[in-house]
Amino acid sequence: MAGQLNVTFAGLRFDNPFLLASAPPTESDSNIIRAFDAGWGGVVTKTIGLHPVVNVHGPKTKFLRSAPDSPQLSMKKRPGTALHSSWNWELISDKPLDWWIPRIARIKAAHPDRILIASIMAGSGTDEELGNWQTLTRACQDEGADAVELNLSCPHMDRQDMGSNIGKDTAQISIVAQAVKEVARVPIWAKLTPSTTDIVVEARGAFLGGGDVISSSNTFPSLPPIDPDTLDFEMNVDGYVSSGGLGGPAILPLSMAKMAQLTQAFPDKAFSGIGGVAEFAHALNYFLLGCGTVQVCTAAMLDQAIGPNVIKRLKQGMMEAMEKHGWSSLEQFRGLRRDRVVTHSKIRRPDDKAYHGGYEAEGYASAL
Ligand SMILES: Cc1cc2nc3c(=O)[nH]c(=O)nc-3n(C[C@H](O)[C@H](O)[C@H](O)COP(=O)(O)O)c2cc1C
Repeated sequence: MAGQLNVTFAGLRFDNPFLLASAPPTESDSNIIRAFDAGWGGVVTKTIGLHPVVNVHGPKTKFLRSAPDSPQLSMKKRPGTALHSSWNWELISDKPLDWWIPRIARIKAAHPDRILIASIMAGSGTDEELGNWQTLTRACQDEGADAVELNLSCPHMDRQDMGSNIGKDTAQISIVAQAVKEVARVPIWAKLTPSTTDIVVEARGAFLGGGDVISSSNTFPSLPPIDPDTLDFEMNVDGYVSSGGLGGPAILPLSMAKMAQLTQAFPDKAFSGIGGVAEFAHALNYFLLGCGTVQVCTAAMLDQAIGPNVIKRLKQGMMEAMEKHGWSSLEQFRGLRRDRVVTHSKIRRPDDKAYHGGYEAEGYASAL
């Protein structure tokens, strides 16, 4: 019997568990409709907000590449290089809510059975700002969005009450989630920043506030490398640079570590894995840790803007893996490796009794 790609995730039925993440591939209705035509199971819109957005002068995203014969990591285009990561300092959608509203309706009319999630963002410092989250939620769900994803993770905000600055503050996360919950008729996804000490704490805040799903990771706060000849950052405006986000292959292991913490702490909750997915083998990491969907950005950006070949490979790869392992649905392998991430003292040593996690004697380590 052929395996089933479709999944029910946090109350929503997806044709397959592969989504385009909130980013340039999902910045317009035409892109999103193309993405659904290409076979993506769901799409998270580019983040929609109510505050003014003006992007930096010049490129907003570049790609870091490495070469097999040189340790150089650079954004410069060189033959024979492999993708290492994306680096971006793009803000949220520069299109206003009024622009998005009819388009959300149009996308749902074209693809009523595909899942459209509206990514939204506002501040959290005042009641008016909390009201903005509610305005965005109401507007998007009224037009047919199947869920909202709260952007608590954009690493490019100067405002202390926005983006990853909220995502570092468990109380603010809870307050925002609660404000959205008051008006939401659709599931609430919370996209957290990986840039915190213990992501489990922030996730708990999101669940307490009424969140249904955690999406992780957004890009990792980072800087572009400095060119050793010009001494300029490889991406800059007038010689200046600011906080940007690293995505793509380099963040897969980093994001997995965050996800393992999350799924172990909340084994019964729903998680959408993001970071470095281009092939099914990458997505499988997140599924085996317990995620019910995965999201893709960098790989899709590099494949005709919306990833038609990426989604084809993801679906094909999942069918092949299910056949190989004898699985008939994602539920049969979701979380299979969640409990294999353990404390160091639980990893076998040449002499089993020799190591107690850095403690002198046995007993301390086992109490952890
Ligand atoms: C150019 C660019 C713009 C992005 N814009 C948003 C955004 O508006 N909202 C959001 O939640 N994430 C945004 N992201 C983050 C992606 O959705 C995703 O979390 C991140 O790129 C990691 O996935 P990847 O490794 O597949 O690229 C953006 C990423 C890039 C590269």
